[in-house]
Amino acid sequence: MTDSNPIDALRALEAEALDAISGAPDEDALEDARVAFLGRSEGRISAVLRGLGQLSADERPAVGQEANRVKAVVTAALETRSAALGRPAGASGLDLTLPSRKPWKGGLHPITQAVDEIWHIFRDLGFSRARGPEADTEWYNFEALNTPLDHPAADEQDTLYLVDSVLLRSHTSPVQMRTMERHEPPIRIIAPGWVYRRDTYDATHTPAFMQIEGLVIDEGVTFVDFKATLAEFARRYWGPDTVIRLRPSFFPFTEPSAEVDVKRVITRPDGTREETDWLEIMGAGMVDPAVIENAGYDSERYTGWAFGMGPARIALLKHGVDDLRTFFENDVRFLGQFAR
Ligand code: PHE
Repeated sequence: MTDSNPIDALRALEAEALDAISGAPDEDALEDARVAFLGRSEGRISAVLRGLGQLSADERPAVGQEANRVKAVVTAALETRSAALGRPAGASGLDLTLPSRKPWKGGLHPITQAVDEIWHIFRDLGFSRARGPEADTEWYNFEALNTPLDHPAADEQDTLYLVDSVLLRSHTSPVQMRTMERHEPPIRIIAPGWVYRRDTYDATHTPAFMQIEGLVIDEGVTFVDFKATLAEFARRYWGPDTVIRLRPSFFPFTEPSAEVDVKRVITRPDGTREETDWLEIMGAGMVDPAVIENAGYDSERYTGWAFGMGPARIALLKHGVDDLRTFFENDVRFLGQFAR
């Protein structure tokens, strides 16, 4: 050290270093400043520390202490400037300036929402909820429902058999017989659940899908009750101006049978009205006397009606979705739009 006062010289060096650091326009300039002041061989502050041994024993502690303080201040200034220039500060790369993650909010699947809304409407109309097994026998799935095993619906092409006469139910109608066996009329039930068919997975079919069964059995139940209840359901679900129509159809377990369609009439804020197309929502009909007899009831005393609808299709129509598969891919960006 040639300077007469080493402490003053260190303070001048500190000021110079801090100027160079705060003025460094980029990472390269900052690295140059680091080498110039703290570099192992050429650094000017390092040189002071290296030269401490040549000082007198009186001078050494004060100069050493000051040199170490300046080194610490300059090191801290280098880190601060480096962070400001954009490199993640510190070895962990932790950046406390990043925005936090938003909390996750769960929501019900759109098909679950449709099942719940439909079930709640029927609950308000006096129905209770029933369930049955997804693996059932040929008897409950077909024969008890007046469907002979050589009927096309019983064909192995459509039905997924497990062992012998045990299968994955192809509709929720087996819950009709399972409920009638355990209860005496009057019966008013809604039975949502999964059903299975050997279908190709495409925009309008999934091999596993939800159905909602409805069944009413009592004395004096007529076609008027059947049609009026379904019309009331449609008005409550789609709005007061919704109408239904019944198209003749065939199911082995109902007579007469019908496909039920709905048409919505939408009134715009300016008073103009728009009608949708007819949408098919369910298969239905008056319960066949043979089914009532299979349940052990007197078909001269009891009559009833039943339906089976597909809530996925109803959710699809409600939300304007054109491919059923999007409900099953479980992409939260898609499902999140319907979360409530
Ligand atoms: N089970 C029939 C189906 O899956 C629907 C249905 C239920 C029809 C009840 C009439 C009565 O297609």
